[in-house]
Amino acid sequence: MDLGYKDKVVLITGSGSGIGQNMAVAFAREGARVAVNDIAADGIEATLGMIDEAGGTGMAAPCDITDPDTVAAMIVAVEQQWGRVDVLVNNAAVMTKHALFLEKSIEQCDQEIRVTLYGTINCVRAVLPGMIERSYGKIVNIATDAARIGQEREAVYAAAKGGVISFSKSVAKEVGKNNVNVNVVSPGATNSPMRNGILDKMRESMGEERVAAREEKVKRVYPLRRIGEMEDVSNAVLYLASDRGRHVTGQVLSVNGGFAMV
Ligand SMILES: NC(=O)c1ccc[n+]([C@@H]2O[C@H](COP(=O)([O-])OP(=O)(O)OC[C@H]3O[C@@H](n4cnc5c(N)ncnc54)[C@H](O)[C@@H]3O)[C@@H](O)[C@H]2O)c1
Repeated sequence: MDLGYKDKVVLITGSGSGIGQNMAVAFAREGARVAVNDIAADGIEATLGMIDEAGGTGMAAPCDITDPDTVAAMIVAVEQQWGRVDVLVNNAAVMTKHALFLEKSIEQCDQEIRVTLYGTINCVRAVLPGMIERSYGKIVNIATDAARIGQEREAVYAAAKGGVISFSKSVAKEVGKNNVNVNVVSPGATNSPMRNGILDKMRESMGEERVAAREEKVKRVYPLRRIGEMEDVSNAVLYLASDRGRHVTGQVLSVNGGFAMV
C-alpha cells in the first residue's frame, strides 16, 4: 500500500535509538525525508547511517527538546533545508529510574516531565504555525498504556504521558479546521533499548531466572501472548501520519497486544 510519503518531510524526536530509530528508517523506506532529532549525537549518526543503507534521505536535527529556543532553531533549520515539516512525531521521553514514586527524587521527576511533556509541547509550539499556514500537518505523539491505566514504578513518567494525551486531544480540537491531525500512539511493553535497560537492572537485583519467569507472566496478561516489537509501533505511526488516516484526529491508538482495552 502506498502511504503517500514520497518527499514528505518528517521530524522524529528521540530517533537516535529504539522505537524512534525504527520509525525513522520506516519513514525513509516509504520515501519520506527524515529529520533525525536526538540529544545524543552518536545516536543521530547511527540512524542516519541506517537511513542511508535503506536508500533513504535523512538530515541531522540535534537538540535538547526541553529548551524551546533550540527547538525553534531546529525547526527553522529543517524548514531551510527542505522547505517545511509535514509530519512531527514526538517520540523522545525519559524514565530516569524504574522505581516507586517515593523512591524517586524531585530532580528525577522533574526531568521526566520536562523531556516527556514539555519537550512535546515545545516541538508542537514550534512546528504548528508553519502547518497552519500551509493548511497541512500531521502530529503523532507517543504515549504509553501506563498513562491510560496506571503502572506502579512509573508514576511520574505516566503522569507526563497522561499530560501528552490531554494536550494532544485539546490541540487536535484547535487545529482540525487547519487540516492538521493530532493523534497519539500508546505502546504497551515493547522490546527496545529502554525496556531492555529496565530488564537488565532487574536481572542484577532479581537474577536471570526470576526475570525470565516474570517475562512469561507478563506475556500471559497480553491477549496476543507476545511483547510488542518496535515495528509494531512504527506501523501505527505510519498509518496515522499518512493521508490514509485523514479522518482520524484526537485519538489514542494503543499498540499493546490487547493488554489494556480502554
Ligand atoms: N519501550 C517500551 O516498552 C515503551 C512502552 C511504552 C511507551 N514507550 C515510548 O516509546 C518512545 C520510545 O521509547 P524507547 O523505548 O525507544 O526509548 P529510548 O530511550 O530508546 O529512546 C528515547 C530517545 O530519546 C532521546 N532523548 C532523551 N532526552 C532527550 C531530549 N531532551 N531531547 C532529545 N532527545 C532526547 C534519547 O537520547 C533516546 O534516543 C518513548 O516515548 C517511550 O515513552 C516505550
